[in-house]
Order: sequence, then C-alpha cells, then structure tokens
Amino acid sequence: MTIKQLKSKHQEIKPFYKNEILKDILNIDQKELILNDNKNILKQQIEEYETKINRLKQNEPIQYILGKAYFLNKEYYVDKKVLIPRPETEYLVIETLNLIKEYNIPIKKVLEIGTGSGIIAISLKQLNKDLIITATDISKDALEVAKINATKHNVDINFEQKDILNDIKGKYDLLISNPPYLKIDSKNIEKQVLENEPHIALFAKDNGLYYYQEILNNSKQVLNKQNLISFEIGEEEQEEIIKIVKNVYPNSKIITKKDLNNFDRYLFIINE
Ligand SMILES: C[S@@+](CC[C@H](N)C(=O)[O-])C[C@H]1O[C@@H](n2cnc3c(N)ncnc32)[C@H](O)[C@@H]1O
Repeated sequence: MTIKQLKSKHQEIKPFYKNEILKDILNIDQKELILNDNKNILKQQIEEYETKINRLKQNEPIQYILGKAYFLNKEYYVDKKVLIPRPETEYLVIETLNLIKEYNIPIKKVLEIGTGSGIIAISLKQLNKDLIITATDISKDALEVAKINATKHNVDINFEQKDILNDIKGKYDLLISNPPYLKIDSKNIEKQVLENEPHIALFAKDNGLYYYQEILNNSKQVLNKQNLISFEIGEEEQEEIIKIVKNVYPNSKIITKKDLNNFDRYLFIINE
C-alpha cells in the first residue's frame, strides 16, 4: 500500500492528524511526506498507523499518541502520567523572566511546585543557565517524565517528590507554579481533557483555590526575604487569590497579566 492510499482511508480523521502520525512512524518531515506519496510502506508501519488512528478515534490527544508535545518551540516527551503542556504556560515562563529583568530582582535559586512534564523548570534553566532549580511533584510517575525531559534537553534540575511545600529544604528566590486549579464541580471541561489527562494535575478543592492557599500560607518558610512568586491561575480565581496574597504579604507588589484570550491568567508577587 502507498502512503497516498493509506491517507485516503479514515475520511473522518483530519488530514493534519494523519500526516502527523505518518511523519512520526516513517520518521520523515512534511516535505518528504509530500514527495513520497507514491512510496509503498511496510506492513508493520501500516499496523502501527492503524493502531494510532484507532486511539485518535477513541478521543485520545495526539500528543499522548505520538508521545510528544511542544513548549517554547522545544519538543518534550509526554504520556498519560502528565498534563499536556499548554501554550498559556509559555507566557508564565517568559513573563517571569521579563519581570526579573524589569524589576532587577536577584534570582538564583528557584523552586517549582507541580512540575509535571518539567516544561517550566527546564525552560527556565535553558533560558538562564545560572539558575539553580528544584522542581517538585507529588506524582512519582510525573517526575519520571520530567527526568526524561531534563535528560533529553541536557539540563541539570533537582527533582524531588513532595506534597506542596511539606518538607521542602532550603530557601529560594523564585517560587513558580502552575498548580491544579479547576474546581472539582467544573462543568465546562472538555471531554477529551477529562477522559485522558491526570485528574491530579487538573482539580483543586476549595473552589480551585487549595494549592494557592497552601503555597502562599507556607511560602515564607521556603523563600528568601527578597523574592518573586509566579503563578498561573484560573481566570475566575484572581480576586480570591489576591485576597490571600494581601493577607500573607501586605507590602508586596502584585502584578496581574492576561493571556492571549484576555483572561486573567498570571499573578506575580514581588517582595522587595
Ligand atoms: C496543572 S499541572 C502543571 C504541570 C506542569 N508544571 C505544566 O505547567 O504543564 C499540576 C501539577 O501539580 C502536581 N500536583 C498535584 N498535587 C500536588 C501536590 N500536593 N504537591 C505537589 N504537586 C502536586 C500534579 O501532579 C501536576 O503535575
């Protein structure tokens, strides 16, 4: 069977997904895929293609099927043990580095809570080699994925299995986190997300506020006096989180930013 013939099957699947799966199986790029339309492919490759197409039909995200996702233009390994990196989180990393520069905050030691696939910690280290980064997660499975990615990108990160801030040693200048923040009774979560991504990475009790409360209320024990806290937040939670911040850090500078869809998505707390 030729590539062209194989592509003509499964009309209900978008050509984009078929191409992505074929490029992955044949280990070729888009140009080669087009040029090789009339090339025969092996029986084993056809079987692999059919298996992956079936997983797509069962509503599995393409990132888990291919075992890869992109973050800040870099490829990361992902599987069902971790949240698929979201484009919104790229801004968390970039805005954090921008603020460090803009406010001239001396940052050396970084603590990331809930690292998942490791994208935040690894990108920060890639963008600033001087940072010394500890990244934690409660999920041993997620940490395995994060370690694969740190090795893949050749960066040195100290990964530790921890429950939020419990038993975190040392003092840090930057605390960064994209914690779970979906309300447990949220109604408008996509079916694909709900059925495939780890619930431990999605949901938070106390109306989605649990992790922000826990992190903020215990943050002084892990932060140097001069510090920056960077959060990705759910768009409905900003007001409540700011109340907690004002209570814990009454003299802090609070900066909020919106994502590309104009949702309140990032919260930065500068303690000088
Ligand atoms: C929203 S995901 C973020 C993953 C990754 N940092 C990203 O931005 O794509 C939240 C992460 O927090 C982790 N997590 C959940 N409960 C935790 C806890 N009690 N302590 C530490 N990490 C936790 C989850 O396993 C998950 O990897």
